[in-house]
Amino acid sequence: SEIKIFSPATVANVACGFDVLGFCLDTIGDYMTVRKVDDKGIRITNIKGFDLPFAPEKNVAGVAALSIYRQLAPNCGFDIEIDKRIKPGSGIGSSGASASGAVYAINKLLGEPLDKTQLIHHAMQGEALASKSLHADNLAPAIYGGFTLVKSINPLQILSLPTPKDLFATIIHPQIEIKTADSRAVLPKNIPLSDAIIQWANVGSLVHALHSSDYNLLQSSLNDVIIEPHRKQLIPHFDALKSNVLKTGALTCAISGSGPSVFALSKGENTAKLAQEAMQTTYANSGIDFETYVSKI
Ligand code: HSE
Repeated sequence: SEIKIFSPATVANVACGFDVLGFCLDTIGDYMTVRKVDDKGIRITNIKGFDLPFAPEKNVAGVAALSIYRQLAPNCGFDIEIDKRIKPGSGIGSSGASASGAVYAINKLLGEPLDKTQLIHHAMQGEALASKSLHADNLAPAIYGGFTLVKSINPLQILSLPTPKDLFATIIHPQIEIKTADSRAVLPKNIPLSDAIIQWANVGSLVHALHSSDYNLLQSSLNDVIIEPHRKQLIPHFDALKSNVLKTGALTCAISGSGPSVFALSKGENTAKLAQEAMQTTYANSGIDFETYVSKI
C-alpha cells in the first residue's frame, strides 16, 4: 500500500516567538509518496526538485523515517519519493516539511500507532540534521496545522492555537540560501533582561490576540526585539522591505524562521496582496531573484 501526502511549508518564530511559535502555509509545500514494502528498511527512491542526498542517514526525511521505524520495528520497509517544492535553506520550513511528511506517512501506513506529539519527536531527529539543534517550531505547525506553540521540547509539549479567520500570510523568498545553523551562529548567548521583558510580554499578548481575534493587539505584539536586530543583516534590503510592507497596513513584517524568507501577516486578502506588491517593488531592482506567495492561514 502507498500514501501520497502534501507536507506544508511553515513560518517559524512568528516575530516574537523564537523557537516556540509557528504557523502553517496551506498552499506551499512538498509532495511525498511513501510505499509500504516487504523489504525491511528505509529507502529514498526518488527526489525531484533539488539535489539532496539519497542515503537515509544523510537526508532529513530519511533520518526522521529511521527514527520512527526503529521505535515501531514493523515487519516491513518503506520506500520514500520526495517531490521537493520548498527550496532548502529558504526559511519556510523546508527540512521540517520533509521530516514531518515522512513520519506522518509511515505512521498512517502502520495504522496510526503514534499521536501527533510522538510524530514530532521523530521528525525532530531529522530536523536536527539540517539545523544542528533540536527545535520543533516548524514541525509542530506542519503536523497540527494553523498556529502552534512549543511549550517544551523535553518533555515535548505542543499547544495548538486558534487562527483568526481573516488572517493571511504573504511571503517573499529571495533566492539566496541561509543555512539555519549559520543563522543561529550570529545570535548572542545572553540577552538583556529589559529585552526579555518586552519579548515575553509580546508572546503572551500574541497568544491572547489569537484567541480573541484582536487584530490591533496582534499588530502591537508581532515585534521581535531580540533576534531580528542580529539576523536582519543576513537579508538584503530587510529594512526597506519592512518599512514598505508596513505602509500597506500589514500587521507585521518579520523574518520567517532563520531566513532569508520574510513574511507579512495581514487582516484580509486585499492587504496581503498589497504587502506582496510592496515586497515585489522593493526587490524589483535588487538584482536578486525572488518568489512571493499569499496564503490563507
Ligand atoms: N526557530 C528556528 C530558528 C527556525 O529561527 O533558528 C529555523 O529552523
